[in-house]
Amino acid sequence: MNKVIGYAPATVGNVACGFDVLGFALTQPGDKVTITYIEKDVPTYEININSIVGDGGVLPKDTNRNTAGITLAKFLDNLLENKLIHPHFQISIDLEKNLPLSSGMGSSASSAAAALIAVNHLFNNIYPKKELVQFAMEGEYLACGSYHADNVSPAILGNFVLIRSYDPLDLIEIPSPTNLYATLIHPHLEVKTADARSILKDQIALKDAVKQWGNVGALVNGLLTQNMGVIGRSLEDFVAEPYRAPLIPSFYDVKHAAKDLGALGCSIAGSGPSLFAFSESEQIAKNVGLAMKEVFKTKAGLNADFWISKLDSPGANVISEHNTVASN
Ligand code: HSE
Repeated sequence: MNKVIGYAPATVGNVACGFDVLGFALTQPGDKVTITYIEKDVPTYEININSIVGDGGVLPKDTNRNTAGITLAKFLDNLLENKLIHPHFQISIDLEKNLPLSSGMGSSASSAAAALIAVNHLFNNIYPKKELVQFAMEGEYLACGSYHADNVSPAILGNFVLIRSYDPLDLIEIPSPTNLYATLIHPHLEVKTADARSILKDQIALKDAVKQWGNVGALVNGLLTQNMGVIGRSLEDFVAEPYRAPLIPSFYDVKHAAKDLGALGCSIAGSGPSLFAFSESEQIAKNVGLAMKEVFKTKAGLNADFWISKLDSPGANVISEHNTVASN
């Protein structure tokens, strides 16, 4: 029997201007997935979800209806189709959810990434990390009906990632300034990604597209040149934020509070309801988090949790491994 525990962190998709093409990882919080592998004499394979904790009993244990389960199933199907492994095993999944569901913090991506990194390790890292992203996107499709990669890419690779192209998948990792800090705040309510996507427009006006791609280019430049002013100016969104803001009570008050306290910029994390802000020091990032939390409470009557992180997360990794030889 082999047991491997994988961990993958929370992530922020879109990062204001980069709808479906930009995302970054935090260092924590994150989900943990324990994969237990048992070899079988007979030529069959089986994946089952043994336990899920931290989800309030909401997530399905049916492999094909769970983001970690479906991701592993697609990964193993691929290995079997390519005759890279033999179908003589049983794999059990124990999932520890530490990320709130429907939060905009990349909860489904975190579970899928943690499961993948663990099972890939079991098979001697058969694929490089970047190749795992395509499988984790299956979990996103299951969760919300869309194959977006802006959460799963940083959940697996860490740091800040740009998806230059989806077909073929072309992921570009972007280093961030060492003194750039993210505040991620989660007000206690749920917004389903599928709902938050369904309210977006199929088409955008050319004048908005011009502003949007100007900001994407500038944000990448600001990260690469460590120019905090450019980073701050680029955190604008004309594609998703205007339509999603009404889903988050007191969104603009919270955003203004973050900027008043010195944040470089602030927007919706992924499809919300969480918000992220960037700051140039840990102290400012903390003050920003406290101010946002206060405004959520006083203006919207919502409790909220927040986390501070640099943008240098290593992404998904194996945190424990335990090999034993089954005795007869
Ligand atoms: N890019 C995705 C969206 C992220 O905005 O719908 C979901 O977290």
